[in-house]
Parts: sequence; structure tokens; C-alpha cells
Amino acid sequence: MTGAGVLVVGASQAGVQLAVSLREHGHDGPITLVGAEPRPPYQRPPLSKAYLGGAADPASLELRDQAFYANKRIDLLPAERVTHIRQFPSGCGTALTDQGRALEFDRVALTVGARARRLTVPGSDLTGVCYLRDLADAALLRHHLTPARHVVVVGGGFIGLEVAAVARSEGRNVTVVEAAPRLMTRAVAPVVSEFYRRAHARRGAEVLLGAQVTRIEGEHGRVTGVRLADGTRLPADLVVAGVGVVPRTELAEQLGLLCDGGIVVDEFARTSDPSIVAAGDCTVLPNPLTGEGRVRLESMPNAIAQARVAAATLAGKPQPYADVPWFWSDQYDLKLQIAGVADGYDQVVVRGDPDGEAFSALYYRGGALLAVNAVNRTADYLVIRKALAKGTPLPADLAARADVPLKDLLVATPAP
Ligand code: NAI
Repeated sequence: MTGAGVLVVGASQAGVQLAVSLREHGHDGPITLVGAEPRPPYQRPPLSKAYLGGAADPASLELRDQAFYANKRIDLLPAERVTHIRQFPSGCGTALTDQGRALEFDRVALTVGARARRLTVPGSDLTGVCYLRDLADAALLRHHLTPARHVVVVGGGFIGLEVAAVARSEGRNVTVVEAAPRLMTRAVAPVVSEFYRRAHARRGAEVLLGAQVTRIEGEHGRVTGVRLADGTRLPADLVVAGVGVVPRTELAEQLGLLCDGGIVVDEFARTSDPSIVAAGDCTVLPNPLTGEGRVRLESMPNAIAQARVAAATLAGKPQPYADVPWFWSDQYDLKLQIAGVADGYDQVVVRGDPDGEAFSALYYRGGALLAVNAVNRTADYLVIRKALAKGTPLPADLAARADVPLKDLLVATPAP
């Protein structure tokens, strides 16, 4: 130990939580929190919702004010990107920033997040092709959305559909172009994908599935349209791409850490070098409910939960990740709430009526409950989240009885 303290690289939700939790665990030494973005750390979920819709300003998104960091003795360094990092056999090391600063550390934590995957088709560099990952992206997108008439959204995942909902609610012509045969493939079952396709169509957005963008067309450097593989030309003065994220693993690779679609960590947020922890969107971790495999939980709740785990590990009080993963998406007046991890499901039970825009889909494997997607059915979501946390079984044949509240079905089920 050199007295240099803990260096947290990446100053977003996971980085801030890790620093705060370290203090809560009684860590008394220096904590440096370095982040590439110019603004103090802020909440990202409203970027594709309230902020994009004009209902939130940047200051209202800030996670903590300046005084908070000062009180906690967290040395916040915004607008500095760590470009190089090395660690000595003792575990101590040095990080270099793009501002030419050298930051010494006793221990390092990586909370570096992920970047938006870029389009690569011809025309992707035209003005009016936007992404949405950080506040600067959201401000630029808002700027282009205000005068836009024809918006083409490439990618029918969470970003694409939330942006489509905001744009359509403001009266723009909206077309969603999704390469896969259904929406939100990564996260939901076909019944939920089909519900969202219909819900967007009912509200006047066009949704094209299995569609390939081959070129973005423009005039005078600005977007004018999108060409698809079948020859269709969609007029566009704004193209928003939400085609997934790429975890930032460069620094982990410099440190020789194992990466496989993200920085590989265990249930204690330890990387392949147990002296280094990582948390948030940059990581892949064992499924928190089953301990199996490696999952990437791209969500704010995971960033917080995993950062707490990482801080406990750094503080020498390791506790395994035990939170039930959860997630939400707001599109129009539809609130989608997800609890659990549906990977590997073999049965889906639908409660309620998708056409009535209030239903839930429960995911099972081998008769065991894995996850829920609830649309405008918060009660179902809360019951399932609790059942997953406690390991309370909920047989699929009982769950299908939509006339009985789920909580009553749980009560009726004997504990194992
Ligand atoms: P995503 O992985 O949810 O969806 C990407 C979609 O783009 C997929 O449906 C994929 O099939 C499609 N796609 C990929 N390449 C394509 C192409 N060339 N043409 C057409 N479609 C293509 O990722 P997304 O929506 O970009 O979101 C990024 C991140 O932000 C994720 O981590 C997501 O979880 C997070 N997020 C979270 C929200 C929330 O908490 N509610 C809201 C919005 C985003």
C-alpha cells in the first residue's frame, strides 16, 4: 500500500455507488473517481424518456451535488479519460489520463460502462444520424428531433422503442427498422415482442421486422433517407440508431484481465485478477439467480447492486451478489417491468389480456419460475420479484389463473 487509495475508473451510476459504498464500509483512505464526461455523474434512464421529451433539464439528472462528493471525500475528476493503466505485482499501479495526469492507486475498480454500437453502412457519418448513450448524445438528438418530420429508428430494442415513442408522441412520422424477426429479442418472449409491435402500430408508428438498412442517403451532408435491402426508400430527416452496446474492455485488456463479451467477474465482482473489481455495463457475471453461465445485465439497478458488491469486496467484507435483477422501460403509457433473468426459458405463461394493454408474461424452465415481464401490471411484477428473491415456487398452472391475484396464489403455495 502506498497510501494512494482506491481509483475508480468510470464516473457513472456504478462508479458513484462504488465510491459511496466504500465509505459506508468504513474505507478511510483516498478515493478518486475519474470520468471522461464533462458533467458530474447523472442518471441515464431519463435520457430516452423525460429528458428527450423535454420534461427534464441536465441539472435535475445529477446523481449528487458537489458538496456530497466533498463531504464523502470523493475526489471527482470529470472530463478526464484514463487511456493507459498498469499494475505492479504488489497490486498498486498507475493510470494515465488524456489530460496527461498520472493517478497512482493501491487498488483499482473498473466501472467504465459500454459505448453505443455504431452503424457502418455508407452514409452513417451524415449529419442527422444520432445515437443515445450519454447526455451529449441526448442533447444532439433533442436538437435534431425538434424540427424533424420523418424519423427512422434503426433497432427495435429498448433505446429504439423508447425514442420511437417520444418522437411519435410529438407527432413525427416514425418508422422502426429492426433486423431481427421481432422486437426486443434480447430481453423478452415472442408474445411480448408482438404486443409491442402492435402497440406501436396502433399509435401510428410503422414497424418493419427482418429489415436490413443498406445505405443512409443524404444531400449536402445531411440525412434525407434510408435505403433497405429490398429496395424500399424511407424518407428521413433524422435517423436514430439503437443497435446495442459494446462494453468498454480496453483497460481490462491492458491489465491482462479475462474478457468475454465484457469484463468477466464472479459473484463478488472480482475480475480474473481478484485484486481488481469491476461493476456495471462493462461486466459479464454469473446469473445472480442460478449462479450459472455469464450474463450481461445492462441496467441501472444492476450497476448499483454490483457496485455495492464490488465495494464490499474491496473493503474486505465480501458478500455475493444476491439481488434479483430488475429493469423497466417506458413507451407511451406502457410501463414494462422486468424481474429475473429469462435466459433458457422453456415455458411462458401469460396472465391478463395483451389486447387490453395490461398483462404479464411469466417465464419458466423445467417448472421453475425464472422471470416476469409485466406491462401495466405492477402488482404482478412486485409479487414475482419478491417470489424470486425468496425462492417461493409458483406453479405455472396456478399462475395462469388471471382471475386470482398472484399474491394469493403464492400464499396458497406451500414453501419448499
Ligand atoms: P438492445 O440490445 O436492447 O437492442 C438493439 C436492437 O437493435 C436489437 O433488437 C437488435 O436486433 C437490433 N439491431 C442490431 N443491429 C441492427 C441493424 N443493423 N439494423 C437493425 N436493427 C439492428 O440495445 P439498445 O436498444 O441499443 O439499448 C442500449 C442499451 O441501453 C442497452 O443496454 C439497454 O438495456 C439500455 N437501455 C435501457 C433502458 C431502460 O433501462 N429502460 C432504456 C433504453 C436503453
